[in-house]
Order: sequence, then structure tokens, then C-alpha cells
Amino acid sequence: MSRFSLSRSAPEEGHLEPESDTRSYESAPTPPDPVEPENKEQSLNDQLLEAKLRIHSKIIDELDLSILGELSEEDLRSQIGVFVTREIARERLPLGSQEVKAFADSIVHEMVGLGPLEPLLQDESISDILINGYNQVYVERGGELELSPARFRDNEHLKRIVNKIVSAVGRRVDEGSPLVDARLADGSRVNAAIEPIAINGPLVSIRKFSKKPLTLDKLVSFNALPKEVADFLFGAVKCRVTSIISGGTGSGKTTLLNALSAAISHKERLITIEDAAELQLQQPHVARMETRPANLEGNGEIKQRELVKNALRMRPDRVILGEVRSDEAFDMLQAMNTGHEGSMATIHANNPREAITRLEQMVAMGGLRISQEAVRGQISAAIGLILQAQRLSDGSRRITHVTEVTGMEGEVIQMQDIFVFNRLDTADDGTVIGEFRATGLRPKCLEEMRRRGLNIPAETFDPTAPLLEVGSKA
Ligand SMILES: Nc1ncnc2c1ncn2[C@@H]1O[C@H](COP(=O)(O)OP(=O)(O)OP(=O)(O)O)[C@@H](O)[C@H]1O
Ligand SMILES: [Mg+2]
Repeated sequence: MSRFSLSRSAPEEGHLEPESDTRSYESAPTPPDPVEPENKEQSLNDQLLEAKLRIHSKIIDELDLSILGELSEEDLRSQIGVFVTREIARERLPLGSQEVKAFADSIVHEMVGLGPLEPLLQDESISDILINGYNQVYVERGGELELSPARFRDNEHLKRIVNKIVSAVGRRVDEGSPLVDARLADGSRVNAAIEPIAINGPLVSIRKFSKKPLTLDKLVSFNALPKEVADFLFGAVKCRVTSIISGGTGSGKTTLLNALSAAISHKERLITIEDAAELQLQQPHVARMETRPANLEGNGEIKQRELVKNALRMRPDRVILGEVRSDEAFDMLQAMNTGHEGSMATIHANNPREAITRLEQMVAMGGLRISQEAVRGQISAAIGLILQAQRLSDGSRRITHVTEVTGMEGEVIQMQDIFVFNRLDTADDGTVIGEFRATGLRPKCLEEMRRRGLNIPAETFDPTAPLLEVGSKA
């Protein structure tokens, strides 16, 4: 599955084609042309676009593609670079050396990569790419969305690139199956919707795979949580306190799971189960499994539930479930209750209480004949901590609750917050002002941690002063 397969068949492969209107196409290195660009700039852009199309088709005509196909990407880039530089000189295009490079790059990207997406995929400061039709591409950087100058020529061009992505994983997107999930060779997650579902052109959402996952120290340095809380969580995971990470979309659940996995002993055998493998555990002994969607005929689907059941036959010390979302919840709880303490999962929920409710609902999806009370008993026995991740209105991501599940009282699962993030105010620029504070309750799991030789300083749980303050009025 390579993004870098060279092909000559221009229309199917997302190449630029010389014949059609090109005004709106523009690849990333050139500046944006928002709604009303200046005429002068527009005419230069037009001139460059036309030249790009001309040079691109000339490459296809004049260079031997079968030889190019055997070159490494680097050699290919330099071959095309030489060709493009010569053509630019011949056409007397008004470009500086940096612009010549960007121009040559954009042609390479069209030929062997994902066109205008390439520079965005290569830019490590970008975490998400969100495309709403050919002429609106947003990117997320440092927690904030911004409009990117990248453009596709038209919706057909965008759709061809989507097809290039999904065909690499043996899938197809067309009117019959207009919704598709796929993954890029580098592990980035892609979701695409085309017409008739998407009304104004293809909608593409890409969660980029971060090559260097954030560590717990990094999360502390970003003020996602105070050092004291990080130390407590690290200790809890190390001591096999079963933890669930709850949060909304893109709130940082997977990141926290990855970071906390560093606490797991290298002697343990871990089994990971995901819909799209993105966990990057740091242990040597990790058996990774991924679900399989149904094929085009609707057969062959393998769901998380089957994988969780199978995992238990594989002698895991812990099972790590990328995201619990359906009836596998029951099997996961069973695993957690039968010698696989310290297993972990993420769940989509807005607060710890909701995480529990959602778990109950998921167990119910399995249609098992067990009472609600029994399900709650399972949940309360299985889960030690719920860590709530949240993306706040200013784009910052924080661990807003560390909540302990302490047992059952009657039919109700008992929970207590150990640490919370209190939102206190908002600065003029929208920055959230708040503090992390202990509630003063000492978690029950401390005793187990102490038995295992891990002592957390008493000050960590002192509620009289905040552990960390973020944001300020000034
Ligand atoms: N504390 C943080 N500070 C800054 N960036 C963060 C933080 N936590 C996560 N991120 C970044 O936010 C993005 C989303 O994180 P992540 O994939 O962990 O979210 P998620 O909740 O698992 O999302 P999804 O619901 O899509 O599975 C990633 O690019 C990640 O690098
Ligand atoms: Mg995730």
C-alpha cells in the first residue's frame, strides 16, 4: 500500500489534465486566493496553473514513465526537478528559486502522491485535514482550525484523489457506497463521503498519524494535566488499575492511552484491538489486531467482539481496546474481571457518569439476558478509574476529571472525583482560565498501589491549593 505508485492514466489517478478549466485549482505552496483575490495575483496564478498543466503533460509525453516508475521517490523528485527547472526557464516564468522548488514539488505530488494533500500530510504541525469540497480545506494546528490555501481543481479532481486513497486499501467509493473509511500508508485515518450523501462536493476528514506520539511528560508540558496527576495515573496504570479514557471526538483519548501505556511493564503481553490501528504502545511484546469491514458483497466482516473473545485465548496480560463502541463491551468487562486487570479502553462520552451509562447501553446491545443490576455490578467491579479528556472552547485539550469507581450502593454505581479541572473564567481572546485541583478524596486504589510499593505523596490530594492554574485575564 504505497502512496507513491506512479501511473500514467491521468484521469483515474488524480493527475492534472490539460483540457479543463483550471482557475480554482491551486496547490498548497502558493498563497491562498480566498473569496476575491486581486486581479493581478489571479492572472499570475492563472498563468502558473496553465504552465503547470502544460509542463505536467509534457513530462508525461517526454519522460519515460516506465523508467520513472522504478526510481526512488527522491530520484524521481530530482529528475522532475531538473525537467521543470528547464521548462520554467524556457517559458520565462517569473519564479524565484524557492517557488521553482514548490512548483516542481506540486507536479511530483500530482504524479506520485495525493496532489494538493501532500504538503499538508508532510507538514508535521498539522494534525487534522478537513476538506469540504474542492475549494475549502481546513487544517488543525495546535488545537485550532485554520483555512488552508490548498485547493483542488474541481470536485472531480478531489474525488479522484479520494479514490486513489481508498483503492490502496482495496475499497471503492462511488454513488453506491458513498461513505468510506480508509487509512494512508503512514497510518493516518481517512473518512470520505461523496455525493449523494455529501451535497457540495466530497467531504474528507483526515486524522494524521503522529509519528512521535505525545508522551505523558509532553502532555504535562502542554498543561493537559498537572505533573502530580500524571504521576498518580502513571502509578495506577503500572499497578494494574483498570482505566477507561472517556472523551468526545478528537479530545485526546488515544493520545492519553498511548502516553499512559508507557507505565506498563515490558514483561507483560499486551493485545491491542482497534478498528483502525493507531495505537503506538511502547512495549516490545504487543500483539496487534484490527477489525475487518465487510467486503463489497457485504461478507467477511470481523467485529471487535470477535476479536476481544479471541484475544482471551491468546494469553494476554492486558487487553487494550482502541475504542469500545458496541457489544464487545460485555466481553471487555468480563476480561477485566477475570485476571486481566489493568486492561484499558477509550470510550466516547462527555463525562465520567455518561461513560458508565454508555457502557451499560453497549452491553445491552449484545442482547444478553442479564439484569441491569448484574451489568452494573460487572462495570463497577471491572473499572477502577475513568479519565475524562476534553477539548475546550479555546482548542486546548485537558484531562478534566480523574474519577474513581468505588462500587455499588443498591442499584447505583458509586463514583468519586479525585481530580477535576474547574473552568473559572474566559479571557478576552477566548482563552479558558481555570485550575486543576484535588477534591480531597483519597482514591481507594492507593492502598493497592502502596502494597505494590508505589507511594504517592499526600500533598497530591490536598484540595486547599490548585495543582495547576492555566490562562490569565491579561
Ligand atoms: N494535550 C494535548 N495537547 C495538544 N494536542 C493534543 C493533546 N492531546 C491530543 N492532542 C492532539 O489532538 C489530536 C487528537 O488526539 P487523539 O487522536 O488522541 O483524539 P481522540 O479523542 O482519540 O480522537 P477520536 O475521537 O477521533 O478517536 C491529535 O493530533 C493529537 O496529537
Ligand atoms: Mg482516538
